[in-house]
Amino acid sequence: MSDRISEILQHETFSRAMLIELLQANVRESKLIFEKAATIKSKFIGNQVHLRGLIELSNICQKNCLYCGIRRGNSNIERYIVNDIEVEQAIHFAIKKQLGSMVIQSGELANEQFVSRVESIVRKIKKLSDGKLGITLSCGEQEEETYKRWFEAGAHRYLLRIETSNFDLYYKIHPKDTVHDFDNRLSALKNLRKIGYLLGTGVMIGLPFQTMKDLANDLLFMQKLDIDMCGMGPYVEHENTPLYQYKDDLLPKNVRVELSLKMIALLRLMMKDINIASTTALQSLAPDGRERALKAGANILMPNITPGIYRNNYALYQNKPGTNEEAEDSRLKLEQLAKRAGCQISYADWGDSRHFNSIPT
Ligand code: 5AD
Ligand code: SF4
Repeated sequence: MSDRISEILQHETFSRAMLIELLQANVRESKLIFEKAATIKSKFIGNQVHLRGLIELSNICQKNCLYCGIRRGNSNIERYIVNDIEVEQAIHFAIKKQLGSMVIQSGELANEQFVSRVESIVRKIKKLSDGKLGITLSCGEQEEETYKRWFEAGAHRYLLRIETSNFDLYYKIHPKDTVHDFDNRLSALKNLRKIGYLLGTGVMIGLPFQTMKDLANDLLFMQKLDIDMCGMGPYVEHENTPLYQYKDDLLPKNVRVELSLKMIALLRLMMKDINIASTTALQSLAPDGRERALKAGANILMPNITPGIYRNNYALYQNKPGTNEEAEDSRLKLEQLAKRAGCQISYADWGDSRHFNSIPT
């Protein structure tokens, strides 16, 4: 059987059927996939890890995704907005520690107050860092005009996960209404690309009802969209969400971790020069999850620089690591983590995906 995995790995491109076989590889066979991904990673992008200092701006969200702990319908959490002074402190921290880039992530809101606040934070990051910090936004689905405003203010990367590329599955994990519209999400991705952002998307792995075919299609979807960046990780159940009712049907946690690592490795093989994040959700299911992701092809780490007092309230899923830490702790931990994975942190650079300016093959 591992002969078959080795044989498939010789191919330059993978069909859906091949991807399904690779995703079904057992632990021993998976090692072959991880090794190949590590080789490709070191050949095409080296062992540098780029950092993105992450601010979780607010956990107020207009959406009601059935899997997410900060969904509108969860009345069991305290809602917060990081204030201007705290945002400024985080920016100074990112400058001083030479993180190179920041990510502003937030629950999704579409009112003018939110849109102009994000815009002014983007301008502030540019001004305080003298243009030296790169900016990624992850603030959900917005009007094309809004994406333009934020781009013109200085943001140049955007992360909007498709969550799953399967239309039917999308509506099993989201309410079926106008704010959770699969086609709108696709249009948002296209708008972001058109405006000129480096485009990032991603999916959750191990969702209830999800099949290996779905995951293979997710990989092909990202390849076809020709993304520059990917953030994906395991689905982690949260007790205050409707999807929690399926908790007993999920793949065991270690299997979800292994599958997520395989997804990362396969995407690295398919898209050799893009940026792939090693996500926190992986670590919530396995203590060494994020370093294993770096070994399997990921090259981005996102130290959380949100003020510690808010951390417990940005609980998208349970057991989220680092909720009791302050910014400095997270950064030191990530440095050690990168070292253990045999990687070096690259300071003070944007670390943009090399894919963006490359000619599609
Ligand atoms: N498990 C894993 N990831 C989750 N996200 C939201 N809820 C969960 C969960 N329960 C992810 C989604 C979203 C991102 C901000 O967090 O993919 O896009
Ligand atoms: Fe809001 Fe994002 Fe959570 Fe959905 S996944 S409820 S959009 S924060």
